[in-house]
Amino acid sequence: MSIELWTEKYRPRTLDEVVDHEEVISRLKRFVEERNIPHLLFVGPAGVGKTTTILALAQDLYGPGYMNFILELNASDERGINVIREKVKFFARTAPMRSEVPFKILIMDEADSLTAAAQHALRRTMERYTKTCRFCLIGNYSENIIEPIQSRCSVFRFGHLSERDIRERIRYIANCEGVKLLESGLDAILEASRGDLRKAINILQTAAASKGGYVDEDVVFSVLGRVSPKEVRQMLLLSLEGRFLEAREALRRLLLEEGLAGEDILRQIYSQVLRLQIPESWKVRLSEMIGEIDYRLTQGARPEIQLGALLAKLALAGEEMRR
Ligand SMILES: Nc1ncnc2c1ncn2[C@@H]1O[C@H](COP(=O)(O)OP(=O)(O)O)[C@@H](O)[C@H]1O
Ligand SMILES: [Mg+2]
Repeated sequence: MSIELWTEKYRPRTLDEVVDHEEVISRLKRFVEERNIPHLLFVGPAGVGKTTTILALAQDLYGPGYMNFILELNASDERGINVIREKVKFFARTAPMRSEVPFKILIMDEADSLTAAAQHALRRTMERYTKTCRFCLIGNYSENIIEPIQSRCSVFRFGHLSERDIRERIRYIANCEGVKLLESGLDAILEASRGDLRKAINILQTAAASKGGYVDEDVVFSVLGRVSPKEVRQMLLLSLEGRFLEAREALRRLLLEEGLAGEDILRQIYSQVLRLQIPESWKVRLSEMIGEIDYRLTQGARPEIQLGALLAKLALAGEEMRR
């Protein structure tokens, strides 16, 4: 059984389906209508639709057989620049067969990782085969692309996707897949993906698979191997209320069932302590206790025992605080 990646399943097939980037898309659609495109340079952050957009353009331009007219290369391919150079020449020098469009499209991802020398060679190749091949170079920063290439390309800047658009897209995919996505789960996905829609979709898929299609904040944090602030907060409150055994059980779950690192749990305890509604002087005292445990953990002490001892101290502190 093969697992289909949702990033691929929900990759827009046409320019009209691409989310956001209205200006970029409308300029590109004009090229498609004219059945002629210049060399292109796409720049912008990861996971916002650069590769998707050029593939969609190719589908709009060539139709269903578009794969025969494009070649996708990655400039940081470990096989090296010479292999890439040969592939480029071999692909670019001949006109496409059986197509109304007289040129192919070569897509060069991570073009900004090429050395200046390699870019100059690439520029010469672009000029030489310009009749039979258009180049679409993709990168994160235009500053890393040599000026002679920039000036020969139409430059398209892809901005970050808006939070609203990412939310909408993630909700849409969750719906199509029958995933029960809670608002807290969506918030956690958004926070972790930081504007990268590919990452957001991947987190959604992994989270959905891990708990039978139910996705809340805790599921998201656990698939990310990150400590759930909510769970730690509950554990902290339990021990401050003097419910030590329950707190220790919560700790055991985080360490053993979720496999989280003691240091990560401790860090989250610390940030939750700072958020407690207690006098500053108590925050200082609790922080000192945490600092001590932190030191012991770095010395290689066992997390269950150290964190357990911390919970016990917190329980005593809670009792004192209530007096
Ligand atoms: N603007 C977008 N509209 C719709 N889906 C997108 C968009 N950007 C990214 N995606 C989703 O994220 C995946 C990765 O996008 P991709 O185009 O490869 O990003 P980039 O090339 O900018 O790193 C796509 O397969 C698609 O599912
Ligand atoms: Mg890409």
